[in-house]
Amino acid sequence: MRRQFSSYAIGAFSLAALTFIPAQAADNAAIKEKASVCSGCHGENGISQTENIPSLAGQPDQFIQWQLVFFRAGSRKNDQMQPIAEEITNEDIRNFGAYFAQMAPPKAEEDKDPDLSKKGAQVAVGRRCASCHTDSFAGTKAVARLAGQREEYLVKALRDYKSSQRVGGGGAAMADVAYHMSDEEITAVSHYLAYFK
Ligand code: HEC
Ligand code: HEC
Repeated sequence: MRRQFSSYAIGAFSLAALTFIPAQAADNAAIKEKASVCSGCHGENGISQTENIPSLAGQPDQFIQWQLVFFRAGSRKNDQMQPIAEEITNEDIRNFGAYFAQMAPPKAEEDKDPDLSKKGAQVAVGRRCASCHTDSFAGTKAVARLAGQREEYLVKALRDYKSSQRVGGGGAAMADVAYHMSDEEITAVSHYLAYFK
């Protein structure tokens, strides 16, 4: 499997290669079967119960597809995800995108620290997070959903962008944002977004 797809270097990828055709196969049995591998870590119904593993349910189709492409190409690094992504075909990537995007997003639980959320809301306004992630923080296209995501994962993601451990697509938008954030701001905004309703 691995050898078969290793010829897909990142250079072979263009937006044209992933034309984001709505995958009609998304709800068929084959993709459900394949997604059972994912639920071991990302949770039943795409809602993660595991520290540092993100929920996938309700993420934008394109965002999911791009992240899988980045893991497969090695431009996004993670010991758990890279070996999995290396086995995934373009068709599977399209199907996974559609499959997780149509799942009900995680529902935020009760916010036990509204004061921290208030600080986080100020950070989000000051740093214009909604200008890309949308007012509902549901994300769009290649921009991630943040609302209801696991709090500690949001912290980790922001720290990874800040330290350049994670290099996103889309012209380094997140590196520019995260680089200027203090750890206090990262903590507060992550709390705010995890409990955003
Ligand atoms: C062994 C555990 C494991 C399995 C199995 C797994 N993942 Fe992941 N996945 C992770 C971890 C850990 C991350 C976060 C990596 C990081 O911190 O950058 C991740 C991240 C992702 C992301 C990026 C999400 C985001 O919000 O940035 C996508 C998309 C994804 N996985 C899809 C899948 C799919 C599709 C499958 C099944 C084919 C799968 N994963 C199976 C552990 C796993
Ligand atoms: C200029 C547009 C832009 C702005 C402003 C922006 N983001 Fe992002 N964000 C993106 C894009 C694009 C991605 C996907 C990047 C990638 O491929 O890794 C992203 C990804 C993320 C992720 C990773 C989510 C995941 O599931 O892996 C987090 C967390 C995040 N942004 C938080 C924020 C916060 C908090 C703010 C405000 C402080 C913010 N962003 C402002 C464009 C933006």
